[in-house]
Amino acid sequence: MMKISALSLCLAGLIATPALAEGDAARGEKKFEECAACHSLEKDVNNVGPSLAGLFARKAGELENFRYSPAMKRSGIVWSPQTLEAFIAEPQKAVPANRMPYAGLADAGERADISAFLAKTGK
Ligand code: HEC
Repeated sequence: MMKISALSLCLAGLIATPALAEGDAARGEKKFEECAACHSLEKDVNNVGPSLAGLFARKAGELENFRYSPAMKRSGIVWSPQTLEAFIAEPQKAVPANRMPYAGLADAGERADISAFLAKTGK
C-alpha cells in the first residue's frame, strides 16, 4: 500500500511538471553575451546576425534590412519562447542550411533563461 501511494505521488509530480522550464531573466542576460557577439537588441541594428529587438512578435527572416539565408526565410517559424528554444538547442537541425554559425546550447535551463531575458527586453 505504501509503495503504491509513493508511486502515484511520483507520477502526479511528473504530470504536473511543465514542458518548459521557467527561465531566469538575469541569468539569461549573462548567457545572452554569447549571442550578443552577433546580435544587437536595438531595432534596425544588424550585426553578423539580425537585430533581435521585439523578437517574440516576429516571423523568421522578416527584417527587410538583413540578408537571411533562403532556409531561414522559408522556415515558417513564428518566434516564441518555444520556437526560439528549439532553434538554439540545435540550429542546424531545427532549420537545416541556415547560416547562423552557432553550434547549439545543450542546457535546457540556459535556453529558458535566454528566452526569459528576451521576453523581458523585447518590445
Ligand atoms: C557567430 C554569430 C552568431 C551567434 C553567436 C548567434 N547567432 Fe543567431 N543568427 C546569426 C546569423 C548569421 C543569423 C541569420 C541566419 C540565416 O539567415 O540563416 C542568425 C539568426 C538568428 C535568429 C533568427 C532571427 C530572425 O530575424 O528570424 C534568431 C532568433 C537567433 N539568431 C538567435 C540567436 C541566439 C538566441 C543566440 C545565442 C544563443 C544566437 N542567435 C547566436 C548569427 C549568430
